[in-house]
Amino acid sequence: MVLKEILSKAQHTGNLSKEELVFLLTRTADEASAILALANSVRREYVGQAVYLRGLVEFSNICTGNCTYCGLRRENGNVHRYRMPEAEIIETAVKIAENGIGTVVLQSGEDPYFTADRMVSIIKNIKKHTGGAVTLSIGERPFDDYKAMREAGADRFLLRHETANPNLYTRLHPGKSLKERVRCLADLRTLGYQVGTGCMVGLPGQTAEDLADDLLFIRSIDADMVGIGPFIPSPDTPLGNVPGGSVDAALRMVALARIVTRDAHIPATTAVGSIDESGREKALMAGANIVMPNYTPLKYRVDYKIYPNKQCINEDPEIYLENRIESIGRRIGKGPGHSLKGAFRKTNT
Ligand code: 5AD
Ligand code: SF4
Repeated sequence: MVLKEILSKAQHTGNLSKEELVFLLTRTADEASAILALANSVRREYVGQAVYLRGLVEFSNICTGNCTYCGLRRENGNVHRYRMPEAEIIETAVKIAENGIGTVVLQSGEDPYFTADRMVSIIKNIKKHTGGAVTLSIGERPFDDYKAMREAGADRFLLRHETANPNLYTRLHPGKSLKERVRCLADLRTLGYQVGTGCMVGLPGQTAEDLADDLLFIRSIDADMVGIGPFIPSPDTPLGNVPGGSVDAALRMVALARIVTRDAHIPATTAVGSIDESGREKALMAGANIVMPNYTPLKYRVDYKIYPNKQCINEDPEIYLENRIESIGRRIGKGPGHSLKGAFRKTNT
């Protein structure tokens, strides 16, 4: 295979084969710069110069999940657990809207306290008071929960598939299966959510073939949003002492996600920014077009420790944005920034 030929194909179509993706994933760092540059031009062509902001509220760090990589896993007793009261969640959402941000992302562990009924109330209130888009990132739920929350007005749902390798998936998620994860994603699609998925890069035992499968999976479900970040070892977890993923590997996956999806919304993730001071800018230059400033009140934010040195622990979201985004020649997108995919395009204003 010849790099030039594959890149030329990638410029015209996202339809790369598994072999071609593995080839691109195994090039040297020098050669990879051409992949990142191509992704940046695909991004410019398909999604333009706007960087959309999503205001993040981490409203509960209580989790019944036990993912072996995550600092919030239920077996980690060294976490001070919190739940934000409903009124404070809504207040934070209103602050996000007042700052001109058109999307509120509600993220939490898999916390059974926040039943469908409680979520419905929160979603309705946020819709009423902000008029903006609401994205949920609250994990696996039964179909009827997803349905109730969608009917309450939730627009989008983020549920990373984490890894498309079913064996690795089961090793990382004791008692869970990739099949169940994919069922959730299918339910969300059926219900008319804009669906986000994605994976971690540099997981123990993860191969280039696995990463190619991640990209093929993302493409196969026609993901509206794709979150990709490096695996970062987290203390007090079973994977606390294994090596983490590199910035370069994560950026290359961001670039390839741009190439295969063309017009998905792809965030410059906090994880990329956490292992490299300018990681988020690098991601924005390698295909990403979304930034998620953290609006979780500081008193809670310090306890939402999925992994160590999580960026923005002290970051004032308003200051970050304009400067850093404009410094790389981009501008902040206005409005809700809905999916650019065919079925949702009409809802974009
Ligand atoms: N390193 C990087 N990303 C992580 N996540 C959870 N734990 C880690 C970690 N140690 C990611 C998962 C999850 C998202 C909310 O955070 O991909 O879906
Ligand atoms: Fe819980 Fe999510 Fe962490 Fe898994 S990744 S332990 S579900 S917060």
